[in-house]
Amino acid sequence: MKQINTPEFFKSLFTGTFEGGSMRSSIERISRALILTTLLVVLVSAIMLPPGGNANVIEEDDYLGKFSYDDFETAKACGSACHSLIYEQWKQAMMSQAYVHHWDEIEYFKLAVPHAEKDENVAEVKAGCNGCHAPLSYMAGDVPPPKPEEGSRANEAVTCDVCHTIVGIKEETPYNFNWVIRPGGPKQGPRPAEMVDSPHHEVAKSDFLNKAEFCGSCHNEMSPYGVWVKSTHLEWSEGPYAEEGVRCHDCHMTKAKSRTASMGNEYDDAWMHLFHGAHDPGKVRGTIEVRIQPDIREVIPGEPVKFTVALFNQKTGHKFPTGSVEDRIVWLHVEAIDADGNVYHLPVDAKGFEGEEYTIAADVLAYQDMGIALDLPGFAGVQRDGVPFGDRIFRMPYFDPQGRMTIQQWNTKSLGVDYRIGPRETKLETYTFTPPYEVALGTMKVHATINYQKLVQPVAEFLEVPEEETEIIEVNTHFTEVTVID
Ligand code: HEC
Ligand code: HEC
Ligand code: HEC
Ligand code: HEC
Repeated sequence: MKQINTPEFFKSLFTGTFEGGSMRSSIERISRALILTTLLVVLVSAIMLPPGGNANVIEEDDYLGKFSYDDFETAKACGSACHSLIYEQWKQAMMSQAYVHHWDEIEYFKLAVPHAEKDENVAEVKAGCNGCHAPLSYMAGDVPPPKPEEGSRANEAVTCDVCHTIVGIKEETPYNFNWVIRPGGPKQGPRPAEMVDSPHHEVAKSDFLNKAEFCGSCHNEMSPYGVWVKSTHLEWSEGPYAEEGVRCHDCHMTKAKSRTASMGNEYDDAWMHLFHGAHDPGKVRGTIEVRIQPDIREVIPGEPVKFTVALFNQKTGHKFPTGSVEDRIVWLHVEAIDADGNVYHLPVDAKGFEGEEYTIAADVLAYQDMGIALDLPGFAGVQRDGVPFGDRIFRMPYFDPQGRMTIQQWNTKSLGVDYRIGPRETKLETYTFTPPYEVALGTMKVHATINYQKLVQPVAEFLEVPEEETEIIEVNTHFTEVTVID
């Protein structure tokens, strides 16, 4: 066998000679041209790639059962003596509760596990949910993990030593926990090793943890039917914040002057582990700004007046709502109050776009596919919205393989109209109202309120999910006045 000398081979491409021989036939010339073109394409694409574009992509096999719980340190060990502030922040964030949180427990054990055991199309989620919610259990092959009440290490959920030993990603697009992890290796962090003096562990400067793609590895999810059922990172990447270099971290892990370890240095830009989102009413409040105006200021009973509501998303880096969109509901409620205090509820004016019926609250049933897991054949479903009929809903409906609306994101085969409010988007809604003849004369106030609920009420009631999940958060409100005259 001939030994190929690489530099010699490349030289031969240009000169037409190789290994002392010559390439004279037309076939040789064509293949030479082909190889040159390929080289050129490779070279050009290497130059065109954004800096660090795919530097973190490392191909690797699935981790199900590849490690053991003991390969990871506990959050307590990280937090008890050294990283106490970070530990307490994390403790109060959903990150540490992703397995024990009641609604998660109910959805996994009451719906997902039994459904996965009955329907082979979704069998993978029995293990798969844990890839993001209880990564230690997934990697230990503990499927399903013990229930929260048993106090196993599944309860540690998204723990310090998961994030801080992640070094990259298996594919270009982050989704379905496709991160690459090195348990036992140095802790990945924002600062170079020579700056950090840890008595307990080695550190390495990460050029991946600081990227939105790191977050996206758990904040994008594809269903077994190949549908994007969670796309917070993808929404962000198509929006204005990505372009401006404002990452997830800048809003959810803000920087403050602080020590990061009790005996360590103080930094001006220490990363806070707040991870505050839908479960922090303060984070949700004010996300959308609301203004309402009438088209005329003096109205006559029996004649229409049109109110226009402008809704501006000034706070989120992705759409609102994002994440578990199948559960969330955001709605705009408008009502008029006349001088005598009579209240009139105003239904939204339909715009006529396709799929709009899912964005106007109505008296319809949905979520019939919960009957599969619950052994209720022919289950009629529960109310779809649980908010006043006629209110505008900002949502994207998820559909099961039978085309019925579902809150089971793993059983989602298609998506409906995306009528959520994008980052920095303004949506306008109109409400045409004809005051009845018996309306009181004088000042009439018209209020527009945008509300948010983490889980649609009828589903929560049906599954007995704790009330905190259906707390109504007032995102914003505004009012205007008109005068009713004779
Ligand atoms: C290993 C998977 C994983 C990674 C990596 C990850 N997250 Fe999360 N994140 C989760 C899970 C799981 C939850 C909690 C789900 C729940 O409510 O049970 C969560 C919750 C959150 C919440 C709170 C949502 C709420 O409802 O209040 C925010 C905010 C958040 N993550 C932001 C981030 C940011 C920013 C990053 C990157 C710096 C990140 N996450 C990286 C898995 C991950
Ligand atoms: C969801 C992932 C995630 C979890 C969970 C997490 N961290 Fe972090 N941590 C990060 C990210 C992202 C950074 C900033 C990294 C960067 O920008 O390179 C960070 C930074 C740090 C830093 C360095 C801060 C600085 O400014 O120098 C320390 C120390 C740290 N984390 C400790 C912990 C401890 C202890 C826990 C558990 C109580 C924990 N982290 C949990 C993602 C996480
Ligand atoms: C410009 C600030 C900003 C940026 C950038 C941003 N977010 Fe958010 N995020 C918010 C606000 C405000 C909320 C609260 C309103 C809501 O629930 O959507 C939120 C909510 C969330 C939630 C809770 C959603 C839910 O319903 O459970 C998650 C998870 C989240 N963000 C993750 C991310 C991730 C991951 C990124 C980066 C890909 C990111 N965020 C980028 C501001 C931001
Ligand atoms: C790719 C990662 C990933 C997978 C896989 C995943 N989740 Fe989640 N899940 C998240 C993240 C991140 C959140 C929280 C923030 C949000 O709403 O975006 C979340 C939120 C939730 C919530 C809502 C929590 C709340 O309080 O509102 C439930 C319930 C839930 N997941 C259950 C499941 C079940 C059951 C499965 C499996 C069928 C599953 N998840 C699979 C990442 C994942």
